[in-house]
Amino acid sequence: MATHSKYGGVVPELASREHLRAIVPVVRMALQDWSTRLEDLSAIAVTEGPGLVGSLLVGMTYGKALAMVHNLPLIGVNHIEGHIHAVASQSAVEYPALALVVSGGHTHLYEMTEGFRYRLLGKTRDDAAGEAFDKVAKLLGFGYPGGPVVDMLAEHGNPDAVRFTLAKMKGNTLDFSFSGLKTAVLRWFEARDMADEVAARHAVLARNLKPSVEDWLQVTPKTTLDLLASFQGTVIEELLRRAIRSADEIGARSIIVSGGVACNSGLRRAAKESRFPYPVFFPGADLSTDNAAMIAAAAFPKLARGEFADQTLKAKANLALA
Ligand code: KG4
Ligand code: ZN
Repeated sequence: MATHSKYGGVVPELASREHLRAIVPVVRMALQDWSTRLEDLSAIAVTEGPGLVGSLLVGMTYGKALAMVHNLPLIGVNHIEGHIHAVASQSAVEYPALALVVSGGHTHLYEMTEGFRYRLLGKTRDDAAGEAFDKVAKLLGFGYPGGPVVDMLAEHGNPDAVRFTLAKMKGNTLDFSFSGLKTAVLRWFEARDMADEVAARHAVLARNLKPSVEDWLQVTPKTTLDLLASFQGTVIEELLRRAIRSADEIGARSIIVSGGVACNSGLRRAAKESRFPYPVFFPGADLSTDNAAMIAAAAFPKLARGEFADQTLKAKANLALA
């Protein structure tokens, strides 16, 4: 965050450099914390894709090297499947399940059946939901990542204050689009003189990388809080209405919501209040955003099936789950 925050988003070159810097000490620390040695492991799981290729390559190269040196099987894991397993490994999911993966790179709906089989039902045609949070936050001077800031400030605004139109999709109506909403926020911004307000927030960020809600409230007037609440409310509505429709369509017996945006407290609350006829599972807050535990969890069924990769495994920036 310290590296990327000032740029208002992840800078790919810096991200891969940070991965390179962190990967050895992080793995060493994880092993130490759990009094485990590499030679005690059953396999090495590594993210195959999708993602920023520079960062993927760091993990891939390191994972392959560990597997080779310690004579361990190598397992390639899809990042999206990892997000799904962050929930599936911890909850009594009943199948068929509907999985809504909402992160900085994805807004995807999958049907998930027994044996971890997936069918894509809908996806975003432009920005991912998390990306929309990040872009709106950046525009308004809240730094990166935007989701957590918007989340905490939306509580203080009126979600009905600004009326945004919901996206109407031609073709597959289970697809998402957030570019219209993003543009609507931009128009709202351009119609006002926001320069002083944004400068004040940049000053807050320059002093403190992780301002508290009180810090933000001092430099954020009610109109902007209302805008944030209305924006977040619209994103939640877009997500939930399509999730409900797809769940109905496949006769889902449970819903899984995962990915960084699954941290959103408004989304969690709305899902709870919607009183779905099936359980809705969210990951614990520490497993919502990107983490390594979810990659290990997704690797377990592959380990059981003996589904191993070899040293020719490649990082794939656009790897699809289904
Ligand atoms: O899954 P993730 O850690 O990384 C990707 O695979 O993209 O998701 C990161 C995304 C960012 O766009 C971030 O703004 C968003 O998740 N995010 C949130 C919240 N916490 C993180 N969005 C809304 N509300 C949150 N509380
Ligand atoms: Zn992710």
